[in-house]
Amino acid sequence: MKRYDPDAARRRQLHEATVEHYQDPDLYDHEYRRRRADVNYYRSLAAATGRDVLELGSGSGRLLIPLLRDGARAVGLDYSQPMLHRCQDRTLRLRPAVRARATLVRGDFRRFAFGRRFPLIVCPFNAMMHLYTLDDVASFLACVRAHLTPDGLFAFDVQNPDLHWLTRDPDRRWSRTRCKDPRTGRSYIYTTNHTYDAATQIAWIRIFYDPEGPPPEGRAQRSRIVHLAHRQFFPEELRALLTSAGFALEARDGGFSGEPFESESDAQVVRCRVG
Ligand SMILES: C[S@@+](CC[C@H](N)C(=O)[O-])C[C@H]1O[C@@H](n2cnc3c(N)ncnc32)[C@H](O)[C@@H]1O
Repeated sequence: MKRYDPDAARRRQLHEATVEHYQDPDLYDHEYRRRRADVNYYRSLAAATGRDVLELGSGSGRLLIPLLRDGARAVGLDYSQPMLHRCQDRTLRLRPAVRARATLVRGDFRRFAFGRRFPLIVCPFNAMMHLYTLDDVASFLACVRAHLTPDGLFAFDVQNPDLHWLTRDPDRRWSRTRCKDPRTGRSYIYTTNHTYDAATQIAWIRIFYDPEGPPPEGRAQRSRIVHLAHRQFFPEELRALLTSAGFALEARDGGFSGEPFESESDAQVVRCRVG
């Protein structure tokens, strides 16, 4: 009989909670279609640093495609096959000269080697919250460092941990929103809840998609639960992690328009350099 291995089970759980949210890129793009401030922010960083960008966790191309359209040479690295496929499809709709500046790579941002350096490396929209252990963070930052030009910029954003939100009742449903499936037009109710493990700083999030109304004839009504694990980075912990990996924190804003970072800020929008 096979012995139960708790470490392997945890790794499996973390893997599932890293990939499930990204299995349906159409829905992902639909859900985040109004999120524009971060895209414009990273576009302006690319314009200021010579438009030669490595995006870690490039996903469906929400940022990568606008960067290419702006004239950038962009390398996108992502773990999720469906997200990369979606990004690839979008590049196929670009003019050939624009498409030629794109390189998409399937890989793990905890260990990568491109054999060249970049003046700008970005890791937008909480992608670093998929770095669950200290080893994950250390190897990720070592790879970033090895791929930056001497005066290169590393820019990313992660959430600012909100203790009130993290400790919400895990059995209730929150953020109730009525939505429409972009493909079928059918309505569903979106809710979430989560269990926060303070020992590991990981929020185990559940996203519920419950269809509304009667099912189409002959079909069963199916609810769906998507799991997502997000590791929290407390502000001074983040500074220490960056410092011990050889980075100097150049700026930390509380939003994408240069808002000051403070206790109530939703996000930590960080720029740092090796130094
Ligand atoms: C929230 S999405 C952000 C996607 C895109 N940057 C955007 O702003 O829309 C996070 C992305 O990180 C990717 N990701 C998570 N863990 C990863 C890893 N270890 N290596 C590479 N990509 C990873 C996911 O597949 C997903 O596409």
